[in-house]
Amino acid sequence: MSTKPVIYVIYYSMYGHIATLGDAVLEGLHKNDNVDVKTFVVPETLSEQVLEKMNAPPKREDVPIISPEDLPKADAYMFGLPTRFGTPPAQFKAFWDSTGQLWQNGELCGKMAATFFSTASQSGGQESTVWSMLPNLAHHQMLFVPLGYAKAFAQLTDNSQVSGGSAYGSGTIAGSDGSRQPSENELDIARIHGEYFASTVAQYHAGKLQIDAAAAAISEQNAKQEDTLPQEASADHTADAAKTDEPEAPPLVAAVVAEDSSKVNKRESKLKKMMKRISRIF
Ligand SMILES: Cc1cc2nc3c(=O)[nH]c(=O)nc-3n(C[C@H](O)[C@H](O)[C@H](O)COP(=O)(O)O)c2cc1C
Repeated sequence: MSTKPVIYVIYYSMYGHIATLGDAVLEGLHKNDNVDVKTFVVPETLSEQVLEKMNAPPKREDVPIISPEDLPKADAYMFGLPTRFGTPPAQFKAFWDSTGQLWQNGELCGKMAATFFSTASQSGGQESTVWSMLPNLAHHQMLFVPLGYAKAFAQLTDNSQVSGGSAYGSGTIAGSDGSRQPSENELDIARIHGEYFASTVAQYHAGKLQIDAAAAAISEQNAKQEDTLPQEASADHTADAAKTDEPEAPPLVAAVVAEDSSKVNKRESKLKKMMKRISRIF
């Protein structure tokens, strides 16, 4: 595991609103020096002719297309979803459908995920678009991190203006013809969203590194004791057994019998120290 967690921002954007919101999310993520960030788009599933008929502008050329094999390289993801009938677009569904092998091998288990979204109207799916993607995250056993209200209360409850965003993530309202662009309030929420997600991922990752290190130290210590104790103990025990003519006890039982109290005390105090270190993380 690298020392810095890697966050992928992965989105689909037909008319550019999600791409713009994604830029603000990236600004927020980049405020945290303890994470590495990369941006991708999911593969397009529509033909050029269909895209032309839908008046889709040319796509950004500087953002690489994600492939399923890329996913395990990241520790966490922020998914950008323009709604389609209150659910994520088919391009995302097609991408998830290409991750069967990762699902079978549990490769995305424990990775964190957040979402940002765009709808034409205020009630067009600022919540349901995310809900409809939760089964994908649940089946991959990923950890959904909501935006909630704690970090963006004022912005999310500002009823003086039309605004996207909800407890489920940052969002924008594009208008029925796509003419509305993300507002300053929406961009602000998106920056906060990125910043909050980065800090959540970084904290989780740092804690995991320490726990993994403590667990490795414990198992190394146990292995060392297993190497030495049974030999010492079984040697003593064989001598005792020869004296008494009793059947020889299995080496592990002999080890436990032979382990003197000073060794037990030493091991206990080392374990206590490690448990203290682990509990400080939480
Ligand atoms: C087929 C289709 C279905 C859509 N369904 C909805 C909808 O249910 N509710 C809504 O508010 N907007 C709907 N929209 C509008 C899109 O969500 C909007 O174009 C998108 O959020 C803009 O994001 P983008 O510029 O990143 O593509 C729909 C758009 C298309 C093309």
